[in-house]
Amino acid sequence: MNAQPAKILITDDDSLVRDAVAKILEMFGHQVVPTGSGEEALAVLDKDFDLIILDINMPGMDGFETITAINQRGLDIPVLFLTGAGSMEYAIKAINLGAYDFIQKPIEDIDLFNVKINRAIEKRMFVVKEKTYKQNLEAEVAAKTRELAEKNKLLRQYSHHLEVATVNTIITLQTALEEKDRYTAGHTNRVTHYSILIGRAMGLTPEEMAILDRACQLHDIGKLVIDVSCIQKPGPLTDEEWHLVRKHPEIGENIIKPLAFLEREGAIVRHHHERMDGKGYPDGIGGSELDLLTRIVTVADSYDAMTSQRSYRINLSREEAIAELRRCVGSQFDPEVVNVFAAILLENTGLNHTILRERQPQQSADFFAG
Ligand SMILES: [Fe+2]
Repeated sequence: MNAQPAKILITDDDSLVRDAVAKILEMFGHQVVPTGSGEEALAVLDKDFDLIILDINMPGMDGFETITAINQRGLDIPVLFLTGAGSMEYAIKAINLGAYDFIQKPIEDIDLFNVKINRAIEKRMFVVKEKTYKQNLEAEVAAKTRELAEKNKLLRQYSHHLEVATVNTIITLQTALEEKDRYTAGHTNRVTHYSILIGRAMGLTPEEMAILDRACQLHDIGKLVIDVSCIQKPGPLTDEEWHLVRKHPEIGENIIKPLAFLEREGAIVRHHHERMDGKGYPDGIGGSELDLLTRIVTVADSYDAMTSQRSYRINLSREEAIAELRRCVGSQFDPEVVNVFAAILLENTGLNHTILRERQPQQSADFFAG
């Protein structure tokens, strides 16, 4: 059996042996590159060789030094040593150094020689095939990974657009409702504007800012299902009407509950009428149970409620409302949030006056509701 023609490097300082071996190999159809020393062999060696035949005793680099240098190149080309008869010790050393096999010279049994050569070539073919397979597999895995990452990116973009579109739809509904009542028009925008300024001043992370923004936009969404005539009617609300109005935080949370990505916003919507002393609604929680984002929204919401005119009462001026916020620090509001917000309002930092409608200082008023 003959393996497919291979490219073989033969290195022997004895030109008689070298030429004889080369002739036999060429007779079997192989391409032979003869070299006379280890140095010469290393100079021509590249990955295209399928087999290396090395003499041991050579001037300059001997066979052992040469195979050591070959090993360092990591080419995985099998090395066969040519050994003189009886030098078993050398043969063992050669095998220990990573030689694939050894051939005794002079070559007397051509068939045995051919078997050894073919076996080494087949081993090389197997290694090359395995390497190519591994490289292809790695390339395929890398391509699939890239493809998957691309698809994931598209999916995330799609999901983000879907989230934005859903939230925008809800906000549009709420804005439409708000705009029907001249007293509540722009409330959501103003609460969002104030909260964003407070959040920024308090150094919230971009993620927290995004949640705060959405929670503000959605905080009164529960009013969608409350009879508008009750909110708009002149004069104070009856107990029954108050009961209904006070349901809007829970209703709001329930409206957005099916949207899992709005979980944190839902909690803020539910608790935007809670107080630090636990006397708010719907759950009567307070203190550390209210997170910073919720505390910011309650302050911004209350401030806007105080400074906005209602059908049944006059609104507070900016200064009056700040005084009211400060009076309710600890019982209703977080002190730090109030401080930060008061500084923003008094220093006019970042306020967008086109979306704000405020009255100049006048008499005080005894009310407020969100
Ligand atoms: Fe509210």
